[in-house]
Amino acid sequence: RSLTNEQLENIVRRVKIGFGEKLYIPGHHYQKDEVIQFADSTGDSLKLAQLCAENTQAEFIVFCGVHFMAETADILTTKNQKVYLPDMRAGCSMADMANIHQTERGWELLTERFGETILPLTYVNSTAAIKSFVGEHGGATVTSSNAEEVVKWALQQKERILFLPDQHLGRNTAYKLGISLNEMAVWDPIQHRLAFDGEYEQVKVILWKGHCSVHENFTVRNIEDIRKNYPEMKIIVHPECRREVVERSDMDGSTNAIIQAIEKSEPGSQWAIGTEMNLVNRLIQSHPDKQIVSLNPHMCPCMTMNRIDLMHLAWNLEMLEKGEPINQIKVDDQIAADAKKALARMLVLK
Ligand code: 13P
Ligand code: SF4
Repeated sequence: RSLTNEQLENIVRRVKIGFGEKLYIPGHHYQKDEVIQFADSTGDSLKLAQLCAENTQAEFIVFCGVHFMAETADILTTKNQKVYLPDMRAGCSMADMANIHQTERGWELLTERFGETILPLTYVNSTAAIKSFVGEHGGATVTSSNAEEVVKWALQQKERILFLPDQHLGRNTAYKLGISLNEMAVWDPIQHRLAFDGEYEQVKVILWKGHCSVHENFTVRNIEDIRKNYPEMKIIVHPECRREVVERSDMDGSTNAIIQAIEKSEPGSQWAIGTEMNLVNRLIQSHPDKQIVSLNPHMCPCMTMNRIDLMHLAWNLEMLEKGEPINQIKVDDQIAADAKKALARMLVLK
């Protein structure tokens, strides 16, 4: 059945009115405008996780974001609350770079070498099974908004950390905390090998060899072009960008920190932003008094975030209304219990 956008919007409005507070639609900042207009709350991954944990009224949570965010919402809500993802294909290429079997094998080999001296941390951009593994081993989750606090805490618990699955966020965060690059090693989960030049005793941070395929598209060349063409422009990037890009930028910060920086800046200020396209476009539209461009002129969409569109949202809500809900995200109870420990350790820190 092909419906016009107007008809799809009418379905969403109708279901939202019908369900009232029993329905909650959180929307990540990288979602399309056609979806975000219907979100009850918008936020970065930390804020949305906190809001889901606090929301005890909503029976149905239709999560407009990617799969790991919907899993997190399911883990943090009660048994009576149900979480749905409008399109099951909305995954995260970074989260796919670490699976539980690689994690268990890697842990076995790393603990053979380093003994009991490692604490595992995982970026929330990971499967519930990995969060559960981390929770079971005393570690915590991290988001780009609180990575410094959590890594600092972790290094007070143990001599070294294993940081999954984003090497760039791990490296950028550890560097900010004063850990030098030669105290960081990279774990290759495919080759089962640790890339490190010095003495193993020196290693403080073991970085899982994963990355975000969107944020890796911002390059040193992009920075040089901006410096040449717009010498007054400030460059702000997400910490999922490579070290050499973050190093040459003026600022880096989570999705939320980027929004705050733009909102607080003076009219007339100029910004090049290194993050996902939908957010950059929204900032351009909502700040006509500022000159804002994408750091990479080709823009960088997150294809999986974009799987959630108006059609899938309307379809999901319509099925809910019919009493035939689809695409429920349900984390196994045992996995959820340990994953919750890892999330709770993070949420008390921030
Ligand atoms: P935030 O934690 O900034 O929301 O980022 C999530 C994400 O997937 C970034 O690529
Ligand atoms: Fe995953 Fe990158 Fe998309 Fe964020 S932007 S959801 S890390 S692929």
